[in-house]
Amino acid sequence: MFNISPLTKQLQKAESDAWRTGPAHVPSPAHAQFKPLAPGKDLDDMNRIMLKSLEESMDGWVPRGSQSRRTQLFDWVKEVLVVPTTNGVYGSENLLRDPVARKKYWTFFDGIPTIIKGGGFLVKDSVAAIEFLSSTWASVLQNGGHKNHSRFIQKLFEYYNERNFPLKDSSQFIMGSSVAVLGNTLPTAFWFVIHLYSDRKVFEACREEVLAQVVHSSDADGNSVRTVDITALKVACPLFHSAFKEVLRLEAVGSGIRGVEEDHMLDGKYLLRKDALVFMPLVSQHFDRDRWGADAEEYCYDRFADKTRPRVSNISFRSFGGGTTLCPGRHFATTELLAFAAMLLLRFDIIPKDGKWVVPTSLNAEMTTNMPAPDFDVDVEIRKRSDDEGIKWVWKLSESEHAAMLGDQDEHGNEKVQTDG
Ligand code: HEM
Repeated sequence: MFNISPLTKQLQKAESDAWRTGPAHVPSPAHAQFKPLAPGKDLDDMNRIMLKSLEESMDGWVPRGSQSRRTQLFDWVKEVLVVPTTNGVYGSENLLRDPVARKKYWTFFDGIPTIIKGGGFLVKDSVAAIEFLSSTWASVLQNGGHKNHSRFIQKLFEYYNERNFPLKDSSQFIMGSSVAVLGNTLPTAFWFVIHLYSDRKVFEACREEVLAQVVHSSDADGNSVRTVDITALKVACPLFHSAFKEVLRLEAVGSGIRGVEEDHMLDGKYLLRKDALVFMPLVSQHFDRDRWGADAEEYCYDRFADKTRPRVSNISFRSFGGGTTLCPGRHFATTELLAFAAMLLLRFDIIPKDGKWVVPTSLNAEMTTNMPAPDFDVDVEIRKRSDDEGIKWVWKLSESEHAAMLGDQDEHGNEKVQTDG
């Protein structure tokens, strides 16, 4: 990831030149690599593994035999989501199931901002963690172990192999993909949970919608069974879905980055020189009152469901990026985070330590990811709901035709037709 061979740089340049100068139907390299993450059977398989793993993890959200657990919210979210997320994306042989590998991942992740600024010598343990994780991946890939991983890993490895990328570099890329997978998902989960629970109005509106999707039945022994179809959360819960998108809009801090292909005068005012880089901060776009209205800087959970608001172009929503590098993991992340939040809303109360919620800022966040870590963590008690006693929950995913997010574009930045509510 940080020390790529000249051969790999050459191969990457050849790939990107072939796409840029080739006919319009040639898919971008990113598109070709990440196909299994698009709606379809491969993604369904990944989602089902993730859901099963979330379900298993849920039994430990509050220690067995207790009614509640005191913890720090961001720490807790990271702890309970890291394995379900990576089990889904990497498959049953996910390396991060191993606590030692997870510890190395966090050491690596925490050192990224320093390494990017050229300070690798200051965070030697982080550099050593990269080497450990990459070489573990290299031995998995070398021995054909990728075949036991998800289609995402299989396709990614095939892509690198067919193009003769050196194993050392492809294993670094695959190891580095864990930053794309976890780096934005975990902070988004934190912000979603805190916005849902810190405002009673938001909590009640979203819980009511989710509750309406629960199907009640009993098993052969007469025990209560409640079934939730995760697909319904995406297509039949407009407020809940809007509350999620609004978190992504309000909390994102990253920048879209584009290279200038030729000299261009923007808006008759700004000369963009060929080969320069343009940084487009999400905050400027998401807090633009001309697009989003006078309340652009506020969390309005129903913004995307409120039909009385003027329509905002899908292209104004940039939290998953856009164009050829539009996040390929957005469908997986959306399914996971809606499922996670619904499980919480239905089964757990979250109470702030002093009875009063303080939603953190993120002014000091590093620029490593688009969704920031909070400036401080929040002490909470996570408590099983009293109406949850003796209930058997079933979480299923009926199908994933619905491509999920406002802001979906094709490779050329054109809006895609939305298939869901
Ligand atoms: C809420 C969670 C997530 C957010 C907010 C997010 C956001 C983003 C953004 C903004 C980009 C850069 C797009 C651009 O440059 O235009 C990106 C790239 C990427 N994301 Fe995500 N992402 C999330 C979750 C995921 C997940 C779960 C995966 C994998 C399953 C994933 C895989 C990727 C990959 C592979 C790229 C690089 C794409 C490329 O190089 O073309 N992301 N993501």
